[in-house]
Amino acid sequence: MPLLVAVAGVSGRFGRCIVQELLKKPDILVRGLVRDSSKVPAAIRSSPAFELLEGDVTDVGTIRQLVNGADVMISALMGSDLFMFEAQKQLIDLAEEANVYKYLQGKTIKGVHVLIGAFLDTFWTQWFGVWNPEELSLSFWGTGDEVWELTSYENTAEFVAEVALDSNASGIQKQFVGERISVRGIAATFEKVHGHKPSLKRLGSLNDLKAVIDSTNKDENPMLWLPLTCYRFYQYYCSNGQTHTGTGALKTPYPGLRHEDVKEYLQTHSLESLVTAMFTVGTRN
Ligand SMILES: NC(=O)c1ccc[n+]([C@@H]2O[C@H](COP(=O)([O-])OP(=O)(O)OC[C@H]3O[C@@H](n4cnc5c(N)ncnc54)[C@H](OP(=O)(O)O)[C@@H]3O)[C@@H](O)[C@H]2O)c1
Repeated sequence: MPLLVAVAGVSGRFGRCIVQELLKKPDILVRGLVRDSSKVPAAIRSSPAFELLEGDVTDVGTIRQLVNGADVMISALMGSDLFMFEAQKQLIDLAEEANVYKYLQGKTIKGVHVLIGAFLDTFWTQWFGVWNPEELSLSFWGTGDEVWELTSYENTAEFVAEVALDSNASGIQKQFVGERISVRGIAATFEKVHGHKPSLKRLGSLNDLKAVIDSTNKDENPMLWLPLTCYRFYQYYCSNGQTHTGTGALKTPYPGLRHEDVKEYLQTHSLESLVTAMFTVGTRN
């Protein structure tokens, strides 16, 4: 019997990357939930191993259809804090009711969280506030030696597909980070690949950054808060060590899978495509 993997959020960047990786495996069926089927890449829609389910994840009947008979349930959803909590809690409760044995992102079913630091593709967007493609500069708070954990969407999806098939995987998975590297290290790698060293711009200390974050009020203007402040949280918590998964050499438990480091990412993405690469992940094949 093929393994049935149910995925919520297939039209999203991460969801489509995960489904593409899963569809490369033998003996697997993927059931994907989307609100709008036209957003699902043709290569996924046309696969005989892919079953499309259209509906909203807040609808109980839809989730029952999604998890019915599934062995593994993956959430690649993205939304407000409240949506992420309530929709995913409901997914877990109904997956458990349907005897799904594994939930990736977990209770008595085997819950698995895959921690990867920040998405490398997100890091290079202008929105993120580090890379400036016009100036060829990298901005940072702190000393520039703070370590970031960075992993591309596609490399994360490769790991998630392996974890989905691994009946022993459970709990918090911390061994899948692409690379631990500082902004200075990224600048040096960039120079090696592109022959030009980005200028480095120090914006202040990490304490200065925290003070900027604390001075902004999400409730005052939520529409402005997201684009103007959200990335500062990323910068603060990714570089102050609080979200780090560990130290030392990176080693995956899955033979044949490699950690895609910044060098490899830069070698496979043109200079021009860096700022927009995040928006096309999972649409290239
Ligand atoms: N570590 C990092 O740097 C980082 C960065 C970004 C994201 N993430 C994580 O990665 C995951 C996915 O992010 P992403 O970038 O792939 O997000 P995304 O592209 O915005 O995709 C979000 C997905 O959720 C779906 N969705 C939202 N509300 C829904 C609803 N009510 N019913 C059904 N589907 C719904 C969307 O469907 P529609 O297409 O219909 O809207 C879409 O498929 C999240 O867990 C996020 O926290 C991590």
